[in-house]
Amino acid sequence: MKKNVYFVSGIDTNIGKSYATAYLAKTWNERGIRTITEKLIQTGNTDMSEDIELHRRIMGTGLLLEDKERLTMPEIFSYPCSPHLAAEIDKRPIDFDKIERATQTLSERYDAVLLEGAGGLMVPLTRELLTIDYVAQKQYPLVFVTSGRLGSINHTLLSLEAMTRRGIRLHTLAYNLFPEEDDEIIRRDTEEYMRDLLKREYPEAEFVVVPFLGTK
Ligand SMILES: Nc1ncnc2c1ncn2[C@@H]1O[C@H](COP(=O)(O)OP(=O)(O)OP(=O)(O)O)[C@@H](O)[C@H]1O
Ligand SMILES: [Mg+2]
Repeated sequence: MKKNVYFVSGIDTNIGKSYATAYLAKTWNERGIRTITEKLIQTGNTDMSEDIELHRRIMGTGLLLEDKERLTMPEIFSYPCSPHLAAEIDKRPIDFDKIERATQTLSERYDAVLLEGAGGLMVPLTRELLTIDYVAQKQYPLVFVTSGRLGSINHTLLSLEAMTRRGIRLHTLAYNLFPEEDDEIIRRDTEEYMRDLLKREYPEAEFVVVPFLGTK
């Protein structure tokens, strides 16, 4: 596979991974890097991934051919929970070969693929496999989404330490400006703290601020 697949994770579920993924895809496309997004495993849906629909709304593309081909959403489970449990509830194991083939095809058709995970890095995909170990096995560089809310520094540092221990490379730290009503003093300090951290410990990684993108 070309080395153009970037895994998107974050400090938690609902932290804004889908917003950040879509914002980055839009930005990269505007810079001439042909970028598509994929959802590794979608839970809580039946036929169509709501995360991919959100990506396309923010990217302003409408549904793409690859969405209709289901390459961008190779595995969908009905119950809104961690993939390991969702697969058990639907009585269907996760088809990792299918995911791999879909990612491979997208990687060949596009300059870059942003592959959004479910929840955070320690989310189990199966009882034996954590998301972070999947990312390490595939050697995907990581786009990591965090925010300025109270607690983010702690969650971010724990994730970065686990990532580094497994040899995962941090490509981008995406700092999501949501919710807007976060404490301004904490938010400003958190941003400064994370910018310093990146300069010091991950000098090759990019710091990207994801703006508030309104209610979609
Ligand atoms: N930058 C933003 N601008 C506007 N709204 C946002 C932004 N980031 C997050 N939100 C709000 O927070 C909610 C959760 O964000 P999002 O769906 O991107 O989280 P997620 O981390 O992808 O969650 P999941 O783990 O379910 O995939 C969104 O539905 C939206 O209402
Ligand atoms: Mg999402």
